[in-house]
Amino acid sequence: MNAVHAPLVRIEGVSRSFGDVVALDSVSMEIRENEFFALLGPSGCGKTTLLRVLAGFSEPDSGSVTLGGLDLLALPPNKRPINLMFQSYALFPHMSVEKNVAYGLEREGLPKDEVRDRVAAVLTTVGLTDKARTRPTQLSGGQRQRVALARAIVKRPKLLLLDEPLSALDRKVRSEMQLELKRLQHEVGITFVVVTHDQEEAMSMADRIAVMSAGRVQQIDTPVDLYQRPRTMFVADFIGSSNTFAGNRVDAGIDVDGVGILPGHAPWPLATSLATLVVRPEDIEICEPAAALLAGVVIDIQFYGGSSTIAVHVDGHATPIIVTCQGTTAVERGAQVHLAWSPEKAVILGEEA
Ligand SMILES: Nc1ncnc2c1ncn2[C@@H]1O[C@H](COP(=O)(O)OP(=O)(O)O)[C@@H](O)[C@H]1O
Ligand SMILES: [Mg+2]
Repeated sequence: MNAVHAPLVRIEGVSRSFGDVVALDSVSMEIRENEFFALLGPSGCGKTTLLRVLAGFSEPDSGSVTLGGLDLLALPPNKRPINLMFQSYALFPHMSVEKNVAYGLEREGLPKDEVRDRVAAVLTTVGLTDKARTRPTQLSGGQRQRVALARAIVKRPKLLLLDEPLSALDRKVRSEMQLELKRLQHEVGITFVVVTHDQEEAMSMADRIAVMSAGRVQQIDTPVDLYQRPRTMFVADFIGSSNTFAGNRVDAGIDVDGVGILPGHAPWPLATSLATLVVRPEDIEICEPAAALLAGVVIDIQFYGGSSTIAVHVDGHATPIIVTCQGTTAVERGAQVHLAWSPEKAVILGEEA
């Protein structure tokens, strides 16, 4: 984890509509210096719109944005200490890699020597020194991605915005580039804001994540806290997989019709007695009958190499309970099993505000 410092960017009550569509609905967040920050949410939830507001390509209808105390909204895009890396890398195909990277610095009118040194240094950082004279069209997808990154970093912005930076890459290159992006951010010490709709990608890279849905911020937290202490059902559903039970709040947990009382804890205040208990598949154990919270029949087993997933039908509960265990399992299809979890592993959430 990076040494994260003082707040760098403050976004307060930013809204933006396009006709009837509310793309951003009073969005507030703080992005810290030297942080790897992710905006995560399904397609259409307003991620790109928020980046465009930060970069200055879109004006909010209301709200304020400051960077290091400076009123960003008063500055035109080219005066903001911010760089936006587009989803399509938008490289110049007829220029060599080094020319592509040098372009922005040359336009600023920097001395030739300085441009040369900075381009060489950044190409070393992204591991493309031996491709300096190559044209982008002769590079692989991952290498083109590095050129685009080099070009964004070489200008030394205070804030680098990356919109779905890895979406054009295939799976394997993508996971390599996730590590690479993280390493790079650490090395150059620039605050990164990465937009993605892929929760695993956000979880693997970011110090903190803002989860968005329909133009609103659902929760801003570390990956671990989002997973272990989701604030809303949306977050619980979107981050990882979970088993859910709807029922009435009682002292020890919730009372589920036809199933009984299931234990759990409520980390946040609940507005109503109707609540949902969320428990992760890896937090459910197969146990002795005496310790059981639930009993059911195994209807399916899937083996994934490192882990196995067992689907259990429980009478009175419509969807199968999913249980994950390490490695293989001795349990067989059709077997009667007993399930339990510890109350501190099960989170009870109320209706969404
Ligand atoms: N220029 C625009 N004109 C009209 N509608 C837009 C425009 N930009 C974005 N939207 C709408 O705003 C919503 C949020 O879009 P966007 O920020 O691109 O979402 P995301 O990047 O999370 O997929 C969507 O419903 C989208 O159709
Ligand atoms: Mg987008």
